[in-house]
Amino acid sequence: MDKQGNKRYWTITYGCQMNEADSEKINGQLEELGYLPGREMDEADIVILNTCSVRQNAEEKVYGKIGEIKPLKDKNPNLLIGIAGCMAQENRRKLIQRMPIIDFVIGPYNIHDLKDIITEKLQHESHVVLTQMKPSRVRDYSTLKASRKSDIFAWVPIMQGCNKFCTYCIVPYVRGRETSRTIEDIRAEVEALAAEGYKEITLLGQNVNSYGLDFKDGTDFSDLIRALDEVDGIERVRYMTSHPRDMTREMVDVMAASPKVARHMHLPVQHGDNEMLRRMNRGYTIEHFEEMVDYVREKMPDIVLTTDLITGFPGETEEMHRKTLDLLKKVRFDSAYTFIYSPRKGTPAASMEDQIPDDVKHRRLNEIMEVQNQISLEINREQEGKIVTILVEGPTRQDENHWFGRTSGNKMVVFPKSEDVAVGDLVRAKIDTAQTWLFKGEIVR
Ligand code: SAH
Ligand code: SF4
Ligand code: F3S
Repeated sequence: MDKQGNKRYWTITYGCQMNEADSEKINGQLEELGYLPGREMDEADIVILNTCSVRQNAEEKVYGKIGEIKPLKDKNPNLLIGIAGCMAQENRRKLIQRMPIIDFVIGPYNIHDLKDIITEKLQHESHVVLTQMKPSRVRDYSTLKASRKSDIFAWVPIMQGCNKFCTYCIVPYVRGRETSRTIEDIRAEVEALAAEGYKEITLLGQNVNSYGLDFKDGTDFSDLIRALDEVDGIERVRYMTSHPRDMTREMVDVMAASPKVARHMHLPVQHGDNEMLRRMNRGYTIEHFEEMVDYVREKMPDIVLTTDLITGFPGETEEMHRKTLDLLKKVRFDSAYTFIYSPRKGTPAASMEDQIPDDVKHRRLNEIMEVQNQISLEINREQEGKIVTILVEGPTRQDENHWFGRTSGNKMVVFPKSEDVAVGDLVRAKIDTAQTWLFKGEIVR
């Protein structure tokens, strides 16, 4: 409680954009109960950690944070502590057994129950655990009020879950099977966002290219893109994540023809070696991946292509690792997020033989990053002197006299603040200097 007697909440988000979107819904639910956003964790009456299980270090951060919260609970026994998200779904009651200061645990399908837990359930029970995965909840998602962080950009989850079962990945176990929201429902949400002045939306799914397949009526991601093209007011449509197996040429054609779809594609390849891809159960070969990339670049020559890589997957030989380096040099992604393989309990890869020692994993990670950073910088340097269109996001974190915006390709351009440029404006900027991760530039009139 703050000095004025208001109840305050503090939500911390880990993991992917899906969790960012869920946290906005969580905060919306808390605001409906009369809580205000906290200004610091110390004054909160409720703290919710929206967690991620994708790698061990993501989980460790959460355990560390709970340790930090404990003294607050000692000081204020009425403080409510909730664990939401993927670790909640994975560990359920075990979280409370391990850390009894946790009051409630809710899975990603249970944000709908949050108000009821706080106002009813916790009045009768000391601990509440709710982790049922009901597909109908995905379709009701739009009925939950969100407290959105930005007035310009909005997350729009279009589906939940994943059916792919890559052998290293825990997501299918904690997010359930693929369930899509209907095109009508998504379109209505996007129209409402446009009416509120939002300029950019990001469609979210673990594998957006399998959007709609669960309806079994021929609906697919292309249909959704076509439907959203018609919404006035939205300038840019982003989407993530794409999957090399499920993306079709038709989808690429529809994106290329769209006036709104941004020129950025995040297309995780994970590895440069076919045997590794097979053991990861990715369902495509490097040859197929390269063909798709060629097609995408043919249709959208200005596309910014980013990827994810895993290094140190069980059985990865030095030769296989080199193939990843070769792939990076051949494809020349704009950037790559590289992760050290982290065994996840219950996934097939965790019990595979030939786990790779940590020092080898780290050395390979560094080699990948060195190759990729060089490529990223070279690609960005080619942009020096060019004029790009950016959507203005506001001041940078370091310096309020420098603002930034993003290109259609999602690259950040930092420029000196200017009185006649406002948040949400689409403006032209000249790129002066390129760095590995961003550009420095200036607004042109
Ligand atoms: N659905 C998306 C990615 C979800 S997880 C896709 O299929 O591409 C985001 C990234 O985390 C993955 O692309 C992968 O590179 C990485 N990742 C997933 N599980 C991992 C694990 N056990 N260890 C290391 N990285 C992992
Ligand atoms: Fe995980 Fe694979 Fe599904 Fe992506 S496609 S969420 S990596 S199982
Ligand atoms: Fe993490 Fe769950 Fe996203 S495991 S990456 S928060 S779907």
